[in-house]
Amino acid sequence: MFDSIIYSQRRKNLLQKISNGIILFPGNNNVPRNFGSMSYPFRQDSSFLYYWGLDFPNLSALIDTETNEEIIFGDDRPVDDIVWMGPDTPMVEKAENVGVSVVKPGFDLKEYLTTAISNGKKIHYLPQYRSENVLFLSELLGINPAYVNKYVSNELIKAVADQRSVKSGEEVMEIEKALDISYEMYITAMKMIREGLTEKEVCGHIESIANIRGAGVSFGTILSVRGEILHNESYNNTMQNGDMVLLDSGAETDMHYASDITRVIPVSGKFSDRQKEIYNVVLNSQLKAIKMIKPGIKYKDIHLTAAKVIADGLKQLGLMKGDISSAVEQGAHALFFPHGLGHMMGLDVHDMESLGEDYIGYDDKVKRSNQFGLAYLRLGKELKEGYVLTVEPGVYFIPALIDQWKNENKFAGFIDYDEVEKYRNFGGIRIEDDILVTGDGYRVLGKPIPKTVEEVEEYCGK
Ligand code: GLY
Ligand code: MN
Ligand code: MN
Repeated sequence: MFDSIIYSQRRKNLLQKISNGIILFPGNNNVPRNFGSMSYPFRQDSSFLYYWGLDFPNLSALIDTETNEEIIFGDDRPVDDIVWMGPDTPMVEKAENVGVSVVKPGFDLKEYLTTAISNGKKIHYLPQYRSENVLFLSELLGINPAYVNKYVSNELIKAVADQRSVKSGEEVMEIEKALDISYEMYITAMKMIREGLTEKEVCGHIESIANIRGAGVSFGTILSVRGEILHNESYNNTMQNGDMVLLDSGAETDMHYASDITRVIPVSGKFSDRQKEIYNVVLNSQLKAIKMIKPGIKYKDIHLTAAKVIADGLKQLGLMKGDISSAVEQGAHALFFPHGLGHMMGLDVHDMESLGEDYIGYDDKVKRSNQFGLAYLRLGKELKEGYVLTVEPGVYFIPALIDQWKNENKFAGFIDYDEVEKYRNFGGIRIEDDILVTGDGYRVLGKPIPKTVEEVEEYCGK
């Protein structure tokens, strides 16, 4: 946990942007897995962690913007629970650790809010992504569950998004701790991967590193010889020489800051010439995109430049043809690169997307496109100093998409479908790093993880 002053200051900064009513933060609770008292691992809500720091279930917190009063609602662990779960720090002490001096029993929250509402006070809250919390707010505020996420406070969403988007020095240090864990996970994977192992075996090993060093993985690990399946979360294949393993994974620190890295590892320890060619197209695109990062530039423009580097590289390999600028403008490259270049990262691996993707990645100046591929770009707006984001271009050969486009003769002036057929079983390549936007440019966060063909091959099978 950070020093209590950091949490107090964050709440004070938020108060400067919301000048009426009550700001309510429901924390997360345990979610049952098989039955009531057997839960999934607890994960606190990230905005709750950001403002209130307490990583425990069954808490709510609020700020009254008129009196500046800050209250945490929660109960000391009763003896019946101590029998099963052991003793716990008293609520008053927990609250002191995050700069809050007023603690009330959880039961008092409903009465507190009912009084506030009857006095005409607005209750600001963020969008809720857990049905348990939708029902909780429904009960607390007397709103039909179907309307809970309609009455969210846009003012609060914008204020929280602005604040959480700009990372402080201590947050960047946490993200780099998560990246230290990633470094170990990737070096282990590179050394371990070889013919005959299953995806599941490698996945189990590297996830254990995230569990040992931090709070586990920051999202479901993607580890597959079928790298063209963008979010492949099954691990049933056995690795064969000639395959490439796409590993897209992240760790969370104990304070829940995330990392998110992708590398591609050849099972035999060596990329084939054809694999190297596509790999270098993706690498050039990623390096070019990273170099463009600085405050004031639109991430959408960086995405489009990355797409042009990919299209140009594929043209040189005979897979694309024609005028590359027109091809990218019309979206022809999306056959091979059908996703966005990256997203914000912080306490969530896709930071704050529960608040609404467009609040985080777009604004009045940059609107989301509805073109296939570009529509999946989660971050398009101008970058600011302090943003942390991912840069993750890729090239994939997705048989179902190839067949669909080929049958429609789609973009036939830009795509050589006969050549594409030769790559039908190629799989996919993505390369991803996490970048801090600095005052005059960027910094690639974390210890460099082997990335060039030569660097990756050097670690393979050692
Ligand atoms: N693994 C999800 C992502 O990289 O965005
Ligand atoms: Mn990723
Ligand atoms: Mn990512």
